[in-house]
Amino acid sequence: MLEATVKKILQARVYEAARETPMSPAPFLSRRFNNQILIKREDLQPVHSFKIRGAYNRMAQLTDEQKAKGVIAASAGNHAQGLAMAAKLMGVKAVIVMPRITPEIKVQAVRARGARVVLKGDAFAEAAAHAQELIQEHGYTYIPPFDDIDVIAGQGTVGMEILRQQATPLDAIFVPVGGGGLIAGIAAYVKYLRPEVKVIGVESEDSACLKAALECGERVILDQVGVFAEGVAVAQIGEAPFALMRDLIDEVITVNTDEMCAAVKDIFEETRAVSETSGALSLAGLKKYIQTSGASGETLVCINSGANTNFDRLQHIAERTELGEQREAILAVTIPERPGSFKKFCRTIGKRMVTEFSYRYADPESAHIFVGVQVKPGGEDRQAVIDKLQEAGYTVEDLTDNELAKLHIRHLGGGRPQERFAEEVYRFEFPERPGALMNFLTHLPQDWNISLFHYRNHGAAYGRVLVGMQVPADDLSHVQGYFDDIGYRYWKETDNPAYRLFMA
Ligand SMILES: Cc1ncc(COP(=O)(O)O)c(C=O)c1O
Repeated sequence: MLEATVKKILQARVYEAARETPMSPAPFLSRRFNNQILIKREDLQPVHSFKIRGAYNRMAQLTDEQKAKGVIAASAGNHAQGLAMAAKLMGVKAVIVMPRITPEIKVQAVRARGARVVLKGDAFAEAAAHAQELIQEHGYTYIPPFDDIDVIAGQGTVGMEILRQQATPLDAIFVPVGGGGLIAGIAAYVKYLRPEVKVIGVESEDSACLKAALECGERVILDQVGVFAEGVAVAQIGEAPFALMRDLIDEVITVNTDEMCAAVKDIFEETRAVSETSGALSLAGLKKYIQTSGASGETLVCINSGANTNFDRLQHIAERTELGEQREAILAVTIPERPGSFKKFCRTIGKRMVTEFSYRYADPESAHIFVGVQVKPGGEDRQAVIDKLQEAGYTVEDLTDNELAKLHIRHLGGGRPQERFAEEVYRFEFPERPGALMNFLTHLPQDWNISLFHYRNHGAAYGRVLVGMQVPADDLSHVQGYFDDIGYRYWKETDNPAYRLFMA
């Protein structure tokens, strides 16, 4: 199977549509991490992602009859753009089914490449089901995004180029993983020719379907998938990719949202390219590999796999970058409520750059300060700040890894209510579509009072919402049952220290 795949990669027809992309050196990162780091620039493809390779190669295998009938895919992402371009170049009709919530910018990008866009359903599953109906009706050929040997072969040409461009030295290649098409193609080619070169998969920690499959020894379907890196938000690793790569790859690394945001910034600083979060995923994994393995003096390649990001998302990415770099500590500090104590607190912090500050009277005895402080990466410096404050007698709560604090509390000016009452607090991911809030509210019993609501647009497919409710005592044990019925991802935050200190 390996040899047959390598042959397919060598014969893949991609260069009628895709280009051989360069590898950019990353001098700042290389110096900082004491390894030679290179970035394969798939953001420079005409559709700003590698997906054109697999889509074009798959289309090149169609018979004349299939071409005459046209092709179809259900996708709101980079596959849609790759397929639309491939079809246009071949003069074949392409239909792309997208969920109605797809941002206009993506709909326009696909239409501009000449494909017909059908908007159907609120979620991806409905769009996919509709694509199947259209296949039955019109005889279109389905072009899968990753689970297909010709798609894998097309993506494998990335590995072929890497070996040609950086023959030696070369220690490891880091590959972003969604459904696994890209890593399967790269692993097949690289391991056949250069088995000593490591191939390391990188997944977003809330869509780590390859890691889960390797742990279970078989493909599993994740219950929930986070969509922050939407290009790789896949619930189950592809069948063909998994069969091909499971014994070839060396390791899988997972990274979190903040680490991906930090890598978006790194890529910008090295190349001036603005990658999407999935596009920066493999660099985030590469950095983590160096930090955990202590690698030094090695030559490591990552792939900027895509640059199709919504401009309005950049604000959120920039905001989380410092946290991903571990350059910001977020602390809740309680200080005595008396003249001069604020000044004393500032003196204790010293000459550090303060990124955020809010002060709130708590009671006649004390006040709570929400403070962001710039620190050196690695955690030691953060601990030094905390130690210093504690030695000065302050109570300090470290909120640096607290999602509630980072997403909501730092933006909430409302403070605590005048009178005390029991409040249940939950954090949700709401799909960004009309009616999502109404759907939520209509699922709640009439006699629950909403006492807190905070929503912030992050330019992503999902909005982050914090809700506080006064729930009658009889209903307390059923709260999560109601939320399970709604189907949005949620987390209980009633006991979160960030909420208790600043809002309760
Ligand atoms: C930018 C980007 N990176 C990585 C991937 C993951 O590719 P695969 O699904 O082949 O694993 C995708 C998939 O669409 C993508 O769009």
